[in-house]
Amino acid sequence: MADRMLGKVAIVTGAGSGIGRATALLLAREGASIVHSDLSEQASAETQKMLEGTGAKSAALAADISREDTAARLVELALERFGKLTTVVNNAGTGTNALVAELSLAEWDRVHGVNVRGQFMLIKRALPELIKAGGGAIVNVASVMAEVTDYGLAAYCSSKAGVAGLTRTVALEYGKHGIRCNYLMPGPIYTGMTRANFDREEIRQVWEKKTALRRLGQPEDMAKVILFLASDDAAYVTGAGIRADGGLMLRS
Ligand SMILES: NC(=O)c1ccc[n+]([C@@H]2O[C@H](COP(=O)([O-])OP(=O)(O)OC[C@H]3O[C@@H](n4cnc5c(N)ncnc54)[C@H](O)[C@@H]3O)[C@@H](O)[C@H]2O)c1
Repeated sequence: MADRMLGKVAIVTGAGSGIGRATALLLAREGASIVHSDLSEQASAETQKMLEGTGAKSAALAADISREDTAARLVELALERFGKLTTVVNNAGTGTNALVAELSLAEWDRVHGVNVRGQFMLIKRALPELIKAGGGAIVNVASVMAEVTDYGLAAYCSSKAGVAGLTRTVALEYGKHGIRCNYLMPGPIYTGMTRANFDREEIRQVWEKKTALRRLGQPEDMAKVILFLASDDAAYVTGAGIRADGGLMLRS
């Protein structure tokens, strides 16, 4: 079946790489029209070319999701090109690594600016259009780090826990309009963000062994869960956080 997103218009952020790119391609193959964005102009152009290969309608906007005008530009592009907005995948994300006493305020703000403030701004701008469309679905990409932590990850963990709280509140406030809002908690996924680490044999093996399934996740593994949450298959799922981590978190 390849029609689970037929008639939907989706914005996917951070679609120049990894989970975002795989999601844009899968939603397109399932019939959605796609507006996608990324910080990198070149990566955006590559994704656009791939989307054109699927035959789906798509439009790209290279922009920084932490800027205040980006959300409005993305939503306007969707309306202008495809007449409505039904789906938002807030995927763009970034990290940093510093112990708390060494973590600068600028880094704290940069990480939160992308990971949670960026999601908030797009949701805020998208909500009136989702209501006009008669309902819709928002999928926010968090991380298993929304629930646990590791050394150096204060800003990242705090921002991803923020995504969980934001998601639950949007789900509660807008459910009556037929808007569902859920979040995904990926585990160790082989993407642009993690490639340098996971290409080191000794690091990859450690993470593979930590998962019950004994492998790293691939972007497509995440895209399939996002498709489920974005599609009508998840019609009665809202405010939920779905762990997709190969069983990483099963034991302490
Ligand atoms: N890879 C993992 O193991 C993993 C685990 C848990 C959560 N995540 C989350 O998954 C999401 C996608 O990450 P990925 O692993 O596919 O990494 P990735 O680096 O392959 O892709 C992230 C994309 O987001 C873009 N981006 C970064 N900052 C941006 C900004 N300010 N504005 C617009 N675009 C921006 C990057 O240019 C990049 O193309 C992120 O939110 C990340 O935190 C990833």
